[in-house]
Amino acid sequence: MALRRRGRPRLHVSKPEQVLMTSILDGTVTVGVVGLGYVGLPLAVEFARSGIRTIGIDVSADKVKSLAAGKNYIQDIDDAVVRDCVKKQKTLTATTSFDAVKDCDVIYVCVPTPFTPNKDPDISHIVHATTSIAANLRRGQLVILKSTTFPGTTERYVKPILDATGLKCGKDYFLAFSPERIDPGNKTWTTHNTPVVVGGVSKACTDLAIAINRRIISEVVPVSTPAVAEMEKLLENIFRSVNIALVNELAQLCDRIGVNIWEVVSAASTKPFGFMPFYPGPGIGGHCILIDPYYLSWMAREVDFVTNFITLAAEVNESMPFYVRSMIEREIAKQPVAMGKAKVLLLGMAFKRDVDDLRHSPALRVAELLIEDGIENVSYFDPYIPEVRVHDTVLKSRKNLTPTYLQRHDVVVITTDHSSFDIDMIVRHAKVVIDTRNATKNIKHSRRNIVLLGDGK
Ligand SMILES: NC(=O)c1ccc[n+]([C@@H]2O[C@H](COP(=O)([O-])OP(=O)(O)OC[C@H]3O[C@@H](n4cnc5c(N)ncnc54)[C@H](O)[C@@H]3O)[C@@H](O)[C@H]2O)c1
Repeated sequence: MALRRRGRPRLHVSKPEQVLMTSILDGTVTVGVVGLGYVGLPLAVEFARSGIRTIGIDVSADKVKSLAAGKNYIQDIDDAVVRDCVKKQKTLTATTSFDAVKDCDVIYVCVPTPFTPNKDPDISHIVHATTSIAANLRRGQLVILKSTTFPGTTERYVKPILDATGLKCGKDYFLAFSPERIDPGNKTWTTHNTPVVVGGVSKACTDLAIAINRRIISEVVPVSTPAVAEMEKLLENIFRSVNIALVNELAQLCDRIGVNIWEVVSAASTKPFGFMPFYPGPGIGGHCILIDPYYLSWMAREVDFVTNFITLAAEVNESMPFYVRSMIEREIAKQPVAMGKAKVLLLGMAFKRDVDDLRHSPALRVAELLIEDGIENVSYFDPYIPEVRVHDTVLKSRKNLTPTYLQRHDVVVITTDHSSFDIDMIVRHAKVVIDTRNATKNIKHSRRNIVLLGDGK
């Protein structure tokens, strides 16, 4: 005969992590995404389209208004998908109010991490977002930081703000870092099929972060701490920055010795192991490759460490717009026109091919340098960027590129190789084409008027 337990019957109370895990697994979880930009909006849309209730929070009233109306503003996302999530499925809503955090079980933070004018990290957006989340934090919530930042940010800056609520990390609330790998403009690798790394403050934090990411991402890779995840993201970007700097330096050497760097890289790429091609260009831009290395070199100074590779790579990459300026001015000097009166046309203002992102664009830097040198007639054509401000001047993109317009310029520079550019037409009608991207590689007819970065001619 079974022994009967004496005393009061025990109430079974689920732990916050169990409750959250259950809601993640059964799809009843509500996801919040703070920061609805190039990273946050695709993430929010991916959750919403999978049927998960998703709330976007942004300080930009314009973005929230647009989204609330079902209007997409990020190039990579299908307009119809946003419309469907907002208007039909009604799984996606947006607000400027952090009160919405109370309704969320998981909160992703995707705010910008720029640098200051002196190139020190500016994590004020992370601090602001975290403080606003903390004001609404409750038991059983998971916060996942996605903004790229230096190792230690999650545990040394985010966690103390959340801990100040009195809730305990790993017990009452959960915290992890999971860096973003989105590559705007990349049609092959998307939010869904690009593996993500997660590092939680505790095992429960990591397990929950894995589970929520698995709802929309095919492969999730756990690491032991948030700092490992923070550092691996910086390694990815520094790897690119250093290798791009290497070819940029070699391109300048090749210019002096009359060897074509593009042919060199192409030949080296035939090695089936131990080599990965990187290509020279007018410099690096965007919100990642240029900025992120500085986050690590700043942090390294705290422990008396000098990150020589990073500093050298930045020096070379940031010198490239100056190098392109000297190429342009050399071509102007060969023509019967005064430097200040020369007409220069830049083709492509976005920081890379087929995107509408202008942030830290090297083409913009080239335009600035030309205007600083007193060249008054700098114009540009970019189907993705309708206008730019260069110092105090607002430049508007030409609506379309015609032979007559090309002929009117003394120098035409391919600064960004958008795939819609008719390179053949450009080369046929421009007096001189300075090609900083090897966009003219397939030109079969005369290359007489082409000056290619890194081939020494
Ligand atoms: N763009 C990329 O390709 C990419 C790729 C990987 C990682 N990242 C990283 O992701 C982070 C976000 O980058 P992004 O390109 O999406 O930036 P973004 O500027 O496109 O978007 C950031 C959004 O956050 C909003 N925001 C700013 N402060 C806020 C606050 N306190 N509360 C709520 N919203 C706020 C802004 O209004 C903006 O809509 C950065 O750390 C970046 O380094 C970006």
